[in-house]
Amino acid sequence: MTRPEIEVRGLHKSFGDNEVLRGIDLEIGQGEVVCVIGPSGSGKSTLLRCVNLLEEPTEGQVFVGGTEVTDPDVDIDAVRRRIGMVFQQFNLFPHLDVTGNLTLPQRRVLGRDRATAARIAAENLARVGLAEKADAYPASLSGGQQQRVAIARALAMGPEVMLFDEPTSALDPELVGDVLAVMRRLAREGMTMMVVTHEMTFAREVADRVVFMDGGVVVEDGSPERVIGDPQHERTRHFLSRLLDPAMAEVEEETSDQAGKDEP
Ligand SMILES: Nc1ncnc2c1ncn2[C@@H]1O[C@H](COP(=O)(O)OP(=O)(O)OP(=O)(O)O)[C@@H](O)[C@H]1O
Ligand SMILES: [Mg+2]
Repeated sequence: MTRPEIEVRGLHKSFGDNEVLRGIDLEIGQGEVVCVIGPSGSGKSTLLRCVNLLEEPTEGQVFVGGTEVTDPDVDIDAVRRRIGMVFQQFNLFPHLDVTGNLTLPQRRVLGRDRATAARIAAENLARVGLAEKADAYPASLSGGQQQRVAIARALAMGPEVMLFDEPTSALDPELVGDVLAVMRRLAREGMTMMVVTHEMTFAREVADRVVFMDGGVVVEDGSPERVIGDPQHERTRHFLSRLLDPAMAEVEEETSDQAGKDEP
């Protein structure tokens, strides 16, 4: 691996008595794509949010591009500028057209002048295949198009790394493909990406590594072939069987309930 672009060391995060992250160690190299999978509540979003300091870790360190972002003296705004984040909900400004959505943060946060911001907005809209929607308002776009605008908005800030938190989970199935295609292209262009997703086909095809989390720890970390294709831990197998075939998992559960009842 080249020098880690993202490095997480001994990361813990508690909300009150609830310890959500229980010691996470993770390195993501420059240009690497890491998909994070795991059951609901396992701490995937909290991990992403700790990487860009939307949450303050209780313990441990996070480095991005060699800078310790958990250093109390760090310039948080400078750190956040280097990290693009895309959420399940697109969070576009409804009262601004697409160009406005892309230029506002560039002008406010980076101090770019109107013309430069507009040029960079146009470049990034083209990158996500939405050049023709520059003047559209979010309400007139499909969910998939809105999510691609949100990706373009993040890219327009020139981030070194991109974090995605279930970017396709809120979309109708027929709109998922366009968003994944944009992410696939970004990966090919060499963007460092950390992607929380349930899209196993995407993870298999695009990820360099898959990280399986459960109960606030990393249970498995390896190539997609290994973690998805040949999981070493029962917890991973159980999660994957549920995901790939929910009906089967229910049968399994009933059988194991039954087995439980037979025990003394
Ligand atoms: N701001 C918060 N305050 C209190 N508890 C929180 C907060 N954010 C998350 N939690 C708790 O932390 C745990 C992990 O949440 P997190 O959102 O990281 O899980 P997740 O793996 O992303 O789940 P999902 O797949 O449902 O998105 C949950 O028990 C959640 O209730
Ligand atoms: Mg989540």
